[in-house]
Amino acid sequence: MSVRRFRGLDRHWPAFWTCILAAIVCGAARGETSDSSLPHIVQKEGRYALFVDGAPYLMLGAQVNSSSAWPAMLPRVWPAMEALHVNTVEIPVYWEQIEPQQGQFDFTLVDTLLAEAREHRLRLVLLWFATWKNGSNHYMPPWMKLEHERYPNVIGRDGKEVDSPSPLAGATLQADIAAFRALMTHLKSADLHHTVLMVQVENEPGAWGSVRDYSPAAEKAFAGPVPTEALAAMAKPTDQAAASWQEVFGDDADEFFQVWCVASYVGKVAAAGKEVYPLPLYVNAALRDPVAPRHPPKYEVGGPNDNVFLLWKAAAPAVDVLAPDIYQRETAKYLKALDLYQRPDNPLFIPETMGQGPITRFFYAALGRGAIGYAPFGMDNTRSSPASVAATTEDGITGTAANYQAVAPMSREIARLNLEGKLQTAVEGEPEPNAAQLSAAPVSQGASGPPARVLNFDGWGATIAFGTFARGGPRPQTQPAEPDGRVLIAQLGPNQFLVTGLHARVTFFPTGNADGKTSQYLSVEEGQYENGVFQAARILNGDQTDWGLIFASTPSVLRVSLYTR
Ligand code: DGJ
Repeated sequence: MSVRRFRGLDRHWPAFWTCILAAIVCGAARGETSDSSLPHIVQKEGRYALFVDGAPYLMLGAQVNSSSAWPAMLPRVWPAMEALHVNTVEIPVYWEQIEPQQGQFDFTLVDTLLAEAREHRLRLVLLWFATWKNGSNHYMPPWMKLEHERYPNVIGRDGKEVDSPSPLAGATLQADIAAFRALMTHLKSADLHHTVLMVQVENEPGAWGSVRDYSPAAEKAFAGPVPTEALAAMAKPTDQAAASWQEVFGDDADEFFQVWCVASYVGKVAAAGKEVYPLPLYVNAALRDPVAPRHPPKYEVGGPNDNVFLLWKAAAPAVDVLAPDIYQRETAKYLKALDLYQRPDNPLFIPETMGQGPITRFFYAALGRGAIGYAPFGMDNTRSSPASVAATTEDGITGTAANYQAVAPMSREIARLNLEGKLQTAVEGEPEPNAAQLSAAPVSQGASGPPARVLNFDGWGATIAFGTFARGGPRPQTQPAEPDGRVLIAQLGPNQFLVTGLHARVTFFPTGNADGKTSQYLSVEEGQYENGVFQAARILNGDQTDWGLIFASTPSVLRVSLYTR
């Protein structure tokens, strides 16, 4: 994985910026992309950030509908993205469109995407809809579809064809490699401003309806020895090198074989593209139930699900991120999915999820787990339920728009604070991991009971209660039908915090050496970051702070300074 380690940047920040600026300016002047100016992923002590233009970047994303990347549709895409306050749009590149005849490429549509995104001051993540889209071959160009023998599908156990391309089809792989390489070559010369931040290789690769390919080629490979890399990845003795998949993996053999074939295939496509233009690459998983997975093939088999993570990492090292498409609505399942993909060997990135209603509080849960980006799906205005309408209600903006409106002006700061391990979040419905803390934490002024969560920082704790609170009143006035409270707190200094949220109340109490001391606000500034500097619009006091820091339906951002005596 092309992830770079981050050492002591904090101390060298001004010099660092000068170098970055010089590199960008010189690179642009020469018409080249210097390596350090390319978007890339940085790792620091198991935490990650996507660096864009030389600094941490939080991807506030949204994905368009599948058929929206056409010039005729774009006028309905950009306004919706602006209404949602996104900074990055995930948008497909269709193999059937860019290679209408074998070997003849047409990148006019890609160029339109680049130009229009730049006009709207948006970045892009390109989705390579190629061999696989939702497990099928539907985006292969017609010249491939009409030569089905040459570019075959998976054959099921019953001998019938499955609506999914075979990962053992060498001609398909070579065609995909050629096309992806052409796309990345084009991007390298056409995207000098780094509008494109990452590329998704394929879309939800794998097969629905068959645990593996049973074609003659697949049967032969299945009976053959397991590759040493697959044995090592799954902590199997590598001296079993001559043993078959069935002998090594028993009941998991069919699934693991299919995963290895798909991951190796996608890994080769990714490597070919990365060789010409090393942008961060990721692969998205059609997630199996993260809490109670059903037996394959009751989920899509082949993609980077949690049980085959290590097979994917070994087979596709050119892929930087394995990412979950999270469509689970239950709190426990959603949070488990986040936990499964936040790993020391993997940056957390959610390329698809739901973007309306209380579910959107999980954006905060993702940030609290260090996510480098987040993107609800289908958020343009090309369908009957436009996102821009869903973004607004009578009592304020909701969902994705509310999240992004608060975070967008400080997205760089949030990404940096997360990389430094200074940021924590809480969402309503998430159990407090340390229940003893709840009863031990000081009860906030006027509160009727223990808080829902306690977050621990250096020298301070924060108690959080969820609900719709009256300013000046002690109790939650109304509880929303579904839990939707969310809070983000980042420690800016020994006694200073950045706080935002919706439908929640936050109070701070001293801990450590100051445990038990009286504390008070020095100031509670309401404002926003502008060009990296917090600008206060007013200082909250009196009724606005005497009952805790109350976050209602309209997002607000506070810089809170505290002291003890
Ligand atoms: C997941 C896929 O990855 C998307 O392209 C889209 O088809 C959505 N499902 C639809 O819910």
